[in-house]
Amino acid sequence: MKYNIALVPGDGIGPEIVSAAVEVLKAVGDKYGHEFVFNEYYAGGCAIDKFGEPLPQETIDGCLASDSVILGAVGGPKWDDVPNHLRPEKGLLAIRKALGLYTNLRPAKIQPALADACVLRPDIAAKGFDLMIVRELTGGIYFGERGRNEKGDAAYDTESYSTEEIERNARNAFEIARKRKGHVTSVEKSNVLETSRLWKETVHHLQETEYPDVKLDDMYVDNAAMQLVRDPSFFDVIVTSNMFGDILSDEASQVTGSIGLLASASLGDSKRGMYEPIHGSAPDIAGTGLANPIATILSAAMMLRYSFDLGEEADCIENAVNKVLEAGWRTKDIAAPGDENWLKGSEMKDKILAEI
Ligand code: IPM
Ligand code: MG
Repeated sequence: MKYNIALVPGDGIGPEIVSAAVEVLKAVGDKYGHEFVFNEYYAGGCAIDKFGEPLPQETIDGCLASDSVILGAVGGPKWDDVPNHLRPEKGLLAIRKALGLYTNLRPAKIQPALADACVLRPDIAAKGFDLMIVRELTGGIYFGERGRNEKGDAAYDTESYSTEEIERNARNAFEIARKRKGHVTSVEKSNVLETSRLWKETVHHLQETEYPDVKLDDMYVDNAAMQLVRDPSFFDVIVTSNMFGDILSDEASQVTGSIGLLASASLGDSKRGMYEPIHGSAPDIAGTGLANPIATILSAAMMLRYSFDLGEEADCIENAVNKVLEAGWRTKDIAAPGDENWLKGSEMKDKILAEI
């Protein structure tokens, strides 16, 4: 089969990690007889520099015409002073919206080979954890009305959700839970927020009518933030709003101690998704060769699995990464303190390629 993949490398380390993922995909294509065709587009700071806007129409059109999208990362201090509506992050939010990607899957788990990287107390880490955050991605306070009063000394951002927005995201969470341990925790702040009360009602209604086989519980977001460090093994699937998911997914990924390994998928109604590492553009190490390409390589694996239904090929990539880690190879970000034998990003990519 032939697949058209739009590449949006973005800024900072984005281009180097995306090109590593492309090499891995080519190797998998050769092995299994698929043709992956790649087209590159600009978004974020590089698009501001070239086109004067963070998300040019040609990027939207190219992504919409593709079978799936791989994104590196956007942003950097260079664009800190551009006007708000032109910030690189605006490009990222706009591409999610333009592609209708309303659900964001962010897995966080302790990799057995990297258990000692986990920042939790050893007795907590020893229990292990493997959780999936299902974050609503195109609604809530990120996209609500915002502004300032005339004087400029007061500002507001609004959180708003419709049952439809809550339901389509929650449906994905229940579907995913069915393929995992069958347990969803709905995270909100219904002791204070009206949107959270609607969230809770809607998620429960959906569970009662369509997913009675899935266990559902509720947790306030402040408590969830605490449980993530107290006993992350409690969680299987967390379903939550855009803002809460943004915060909790950073927390969960850092708890694993290996944010450079974590992939993510953004999905909508069609098979086309956008796949990107959870980490940012790390402008401080761009071009030094230090960037760990694994999260992007694993994002490519997620793309094969979720958008192209190529489970075996996805396994092939994930197994190759596991083998390399089990053999003890590390990039600098995941090397044990004092270990000076770490690999550069391109060397890590070569090790993975050799296992494919
Ligand atoms: C993320 C990022 C983005 C977000 C920023 C860059 C706009 O933090 O993908 O988690 O808040 O969604
Ligand atoms: Mg974030």
